[in-house]
Amino acid sequence: MEKIIDENKQGDPLVLKQKEGNTKKLFIESYGCAMNFSDSEIVASILQNEGFNTTKNLEDADLVLVNTCSIRDKAEQTVRKRLEKYNAVKRTNPKMKVGVLGCMAERLKSKFLEEEKIVDLVVGPDAYKDLPNLLAEVEDGRDAINVVLSKDETYGDISPVRINTNGVTALVSITRGCDNMCTFCVVPFTRGRERSRDPQSIIEEVNDLWNKGYKEITLLGQNVDSYLWYGGGLKKDFVKATEMQKATAVDFAKLLSICAETQPKMRIRFSTSNPQDMSLDVIKTMAKYDNICNHIHLPVQSGSNRILKAMNRLHTREEYFQLIDNIREIIPNCAISQDIIAGFPTETEEDHKDTLSLLEYVKYNFGYMFTYSERPGTLAERKLEDDVPEATKSRRLSEIIALQLEHSELRTKGYLGTTVEILIERASKKSSEHWSGRSAQNIVAVFPKENYNIGDFVNVKVTDCTKATLIGEAIGLSKSN
Ligand code: SAH
Ligand code: F3S
Repeated sequence: MEKIIDENKQGDPLVLKQKEGNTKKLFIESYGCAMNFSDSEIVASILQNEGFNTTKNLEDADLVLVNTCSIRDKAEQTVRKRLEKYNAVKRTNPKMKVGVLGCMAERLKSKFLEEEKIVDLVVGPDAYKDLPNLLAEVEDGRDAINVVLSKDETYGDISPVRINTNGVTALVSITRGCDNMCTFCVVPFTRGRERSRDPQSIIEEVNDLWNKGYKEITLLGQNVDSYLWYGGGLKKDFVKATEMQKATAVDFAKLLSICAETQPKMRIRFSTSNPQDMSLDVIKTMAKYDNICNHIHLPVQSGSNRILKAMNRLHTREEYFQLIDNIREIIPNCAISQDIIAGFPTETEEDHKDTLSLLEYVKYNFGYMFTYSERPGTLAERKLEDDVPEATKSRRLSEIIALQLEHSELRTKGYLGTTVEILIERASKKSSEHWSGRSAQNIVAVFPKENYNIGDFVNVKVTDCTKATLIGEAIGLSKSN
């Protein structure tokens, strides 16, 4: 098991409301992070204006797009398997075109066209607006590729048509790229330098979502706490901004408060926070506004100072504990979750024990845990030997997961007998008689449907729980409605 909770439905084809008059069929599926799922909505929106309606059936498609992930080797292997499947379908439908989007497109570039004969189109994360031109080339019988990374592309001007969603929760991207250069991570290479989206366009999207009935948004970025709008351009060029631009710049704490005040009934979440960039201002802003959810996803990767340094994570274990203490003091009921990598190069048993003791200290609500996967081109790949044997990595990962499960159970049990506010998102997967939703702390709860509806905020009395899910009964609508 790699993940305790799988947030995104990996590989589910996206489905848009059909646009009248569109005759071509698009099959688009996504792998990897929430940003990819958000990007696929942008892509489908662009293609809707080019005559494409989405289809769930691969066999019917005129165009098949796969939005790919490079974060670990396994993620890339999943995509290679999907390409084999497309290849089989193409034999019965030779007119079908296949395009690769996202991080693998950016990483492998034209190599994709050589390695995988099935691929007609390769488009990196900053080039989706060029899709209409690229498709025209493909129609003319040529392979097409655009993997240019951009200084300012944020897709702020594209209002994505929401797909596949429950009509209640939505993703809103606020930054693109990452400047952190963690030594294990391929993202800075595939998604380019960090840039932030105009707050005005973010607010317009949030208002539009509220007007369409959405009740919760997640502000998305590789490193949201680093958000900085000073009129456009790369984060690293902020030093060159004018005095006026500096004086009127909007940072993440400010953006959060603007969002919270613009739609005071909208629940606001964000992901992901890098500990080195999370400010006290952000924590205080969370405490100030009821509608900002008390949950922080705060990846730590390792509990060992030596490994943190080798990973180029720019904080120590002690500084991380200080941050956790500050969060708990300012927001006592804040849920905290983690990402951890087991078996980074040179990791010793001592280092691993430091990770376990860090887990003991924080007792996270939940987490996403992985074995280290060497990624071509990263600093770790160039400078360090991948020297922890796979069996050791796996054993350490199992120990980390087992401890995390204990803590998840402990945290979940802590809600027994309490009343939590739940936003109803969908019918429970296990029982059509039950609703499923999440608390502000991002804990899933299931309870009998009664007369409540999707999109209602309800108070749920927690009577029972599993390791990760609250079970209870609704005792009325909450005041948030
Ligand atoms: N800031 C990003 C992190 C992206 S990667 C975000 O928004 O989520 C997500 C997680 O994948 C990381 O936190 C890390 O735990 C894991 N990861 C990244 N590169 C990895 C690698 N080479 N091997 C194993 N896990 C990795
Ligand atoms: Fe990757 Fe580190 Fe950025 S994990 S996405 S380089 S914060």
